[in-house]
Amino acid sequence: MSSSVGGVTPEASTVYLISEAHAYLKAAALRAVAQLGVADHLGDEPRPVEELAEATGTNAAFLHRALRLLSTNGIFRQEDDGRFSLTPLGQGLRTDSRYSARWGVVMSTMHTHWSSAFELGHSLRTGQPSFPALFGERYFDHVAGNAEAGAEFHGGMGSFSGAARRLALDEYDFPATGTVVDVGGGTGGFLRDILLENPGLRGVLFDQAHVLPGERPRDVAAERWSEISGDFFVEVPADGDLYVLSYITHDWSDDECVRILRNCRKAMAPGARIAVFDAVVEPGNEPDDAKLLDLVMMMLVTGKERTADEFGRIFDQAGLRLSRIVPADGPLSVVEAVAV
Ligand SMILES: C[S@@+](CC[C@H](N)C(=O)[O-])C[C@H]1O[C@@H](n2cnc3c(N)ncnc32)[C@H](O)[C@@H]1O
Repeated sequence: MSSSVGGVTPEASTVYLISEAHAYLKAAALRAVAQLGVADHLGDEPRPVEELAEATGTNAAFLHRALRLLSTNGIFRQEDDGRFSLTPLGQGLRTDSRYSARWGVVMSTMHTHWSSAFELGHSLRTGQPSFPALFGERYFDHVAGNAEAGAEFHGGMGSFSGAARRLALDEYDFPATGTVVDVGGGTGGFLRDILLENPGLRGVLFDQAHVLPGERPRDVAAERWSEISGDFFVEVPADGDLYVLSYITHDWSDDECVRILRNCRKAMAPGARIAVFDAVVEPGNEPDDAKLLDLVMMMLVTGKERTADEFGRIFDQAGLRLSRIVPADGPLSVVEAVAV
């Protein structure tokens, strides 16, 4: 009979820890079914695994085992007769779901991310991301110079951030008129959403030349949309009334953020605001997506997820003042700053 600590025996502790270590297999199974498009073959009715295997070109017995696991965390559900269905929480895996998670799941678990996570000990020892040590270049240089990685990253990014940004968008009051500059706006999905809901705004999509889509969304009028390529460490487009930075500051160290924010500060029209859409790390021990995403930043890039105080400090150094934090019903908040 073992002694217990806080009511937990040594055996129970070990069993728990080994189970936690196996948690990566849930991500692996999720990646596999997302890649294979299994959810696209599940509609309103549960289906036998043999039909799903036939439709996805997979081995029925093995698919059964993966779906059985994913039915333990509420993504799929195995009925009493053995057929599988997609739960309401699993619906986002379908390619046709609004803000589909499918390519975001694939991007979040892509080979380079997975390998960097495997080497997280390197980051803890050196205080540096593991990605450059493994792949010989910085993460964004790799994404820029490698067509396949670029397609997987930029294709996945819209899916990765779309739903979270949507939830934050609902909470934030955009200016009624003027110009919104989406700094590092990627392929423009967020700017499109902002313009569709704020008909008095014009939009400037700013990113590196190879990332810009080169055509405006069909549902946005030509006079409301422009694209400018450049490097936000050099300058950002001038005279904006609102500078949106969505999932940007978390990619960069404090010093790098200060350079980007100073460039926004220089470019801002009088009375303009900066709206950072990023996670805010909260104190305490509750489950917090920000703390997961923070390790993604640790292993890939020089950035991190920040607390409110940490945001305040980088704004101060850039000649800005944190004016308010607008929390959303999701992993993102809007951290707003104005010129001092
Ligand atoms: C994490 S993604 C965020 C994309 C988008 N804002 C979103 O929320 O999905 C970071 C973006 O920053 C862009 N970026 C990276 N370095 C940049 C630079 N030096 N100048 C301009 N954009 C840059 C990348 O091309 C990419 O689109």
